[in-house]
Amino acid sequence: MKNQIRFYDTTLRDGEQTIGVNFSIDEKVALAKSLENFGVDAIEAGFPAASAEDFEAVEAVSEAVQEAEVVGLARMVKKDIDAAIAATNKAKHQVIHVFIATSPIHRETKLKMTKAEIIEKIQEDVAYTKSRVDKVIFSPEDATRTEPDYLVASIDAAIAAGATTINIPDTVGYDLPEEYGELFDYLHDHIQAFDQVTWSTHTHNDLGLANANALAGVAHGATEIQGTINGIGERAGNVDLIEAAVTLQVRRDHCQQTIALNLQQATKIAHQVENYSKVKIAANKAIVGRNAFAHESGIHQDGYLKNPATYEILSPAMVGASASMPLGKLSGSHAVSAKLKELGYEMPIENIAHLFPAFKTLAEKVSIVSDDQLIALAEQELAEGVVAK
Ligand code: KIV
Ligand code: ZN
Repeated sequence: MKNQIRFYDTTLRDGEQTIGVNFSIDEKVALAKSLENFGVDAIEAGFPAASAEDFEAVEAVSEAVQEAEVVGLARMVKKDIDAAIAATNKAKHQVIHVFIATSPIHRETKLKMTKAEIIEKIQEDVAYTKSRVDKVIFSPEDATRTEPDYLVASIDAAIAAGATTINIPDTVGYDLPEEYGELFDYLHDHIQAFDQVTWSTHTHNDLGLANANALAGVAHGATEIQGTINGIGERAGNVDLIEAAVTLQVRRDHCQQTIALNLQQATKIAHQVENYSKVKIAANKAIVGRNAFAHESGIHQDGYLKNPATYEILSPAMVGASASMPLGKLSGSHAVSAKLKELGYEMPIENIAHLFPAFKTLAEKVSIVSDDQLIALAEQELAEGVVAK
């Protein structure tokens, strides 16, 4: 049977950790509403203990969101947990996400805590959170660089104390997909209560592997993906939820998972995040980049005009985008002819052949020939009396 994957959006929290990104409270509320319409299952609204504004934003998002879970993030510090609980108190579906680092480098140099002390903290603080909130997510930060047996001990402690979701952060984007997948297998084999909790992926993109790792996680037992829109986030960012969702949808022939997002809203929400965050979407970014469905070379345009599936593995309409055929120096006469037809100039092949050298010369000069420039070339043909409009 296929599993339906849950999407957990952390654009408002991990995404806001992008250098220079600072969403206003109104922007956070607007984004949360868009995320809810997009169909995400959970919205991590912020880190309420971080500042008074963060607290207020999480409160505002909690009041605005109706269907999705609203999550407050907290370190394993009582005042953080109290702030996260208070800020999400009005949420229809309140969730608290607590985390503590478990890897040797974080234990020894950042936390200066022993393994036993960390386990004790997990037991105490997960139990404290659980005594006040039903749904508690536990993240062993830097899980992928943690000794596997100690990771199991930390997670066992969290589950025994009441955690309902276990998130496995590849905090520094270090793992290879096969390693991340094998880690879920290892956890499955060593954690008795594996089937009693939800397993979530949280993958960073330091080596450009965030999407591959998230998909490896779900192929090996995770049923939730944590990520952001446009992949914004700390350093090189997080997995882009749109990329993960569209991969699962396009490759449903191969993947054992289904999705229930309103993908037609993908392009719109990507642009909204681009606008608010001021982090430009790269032209060649998968799915939502402005070149993602643009075909410029003659061979591609010819194939595309004969059958879009020659060069498109998904229809742009599926993600609320449209295809384009910019006319440049590599474009061929088939695309020029099709564009002219679209502009109202249906020309016999001899006229296209006659006009084409002038088109090429112009394209070399201007890179992309505009509609107006193409019309001017067609009018010139008309003026020479060899073509009928
Ligand atoms: O990357 C990370 O480890 C995190 C945790 C807070 C889950 O963002
Ligand atoms: Zn993160």
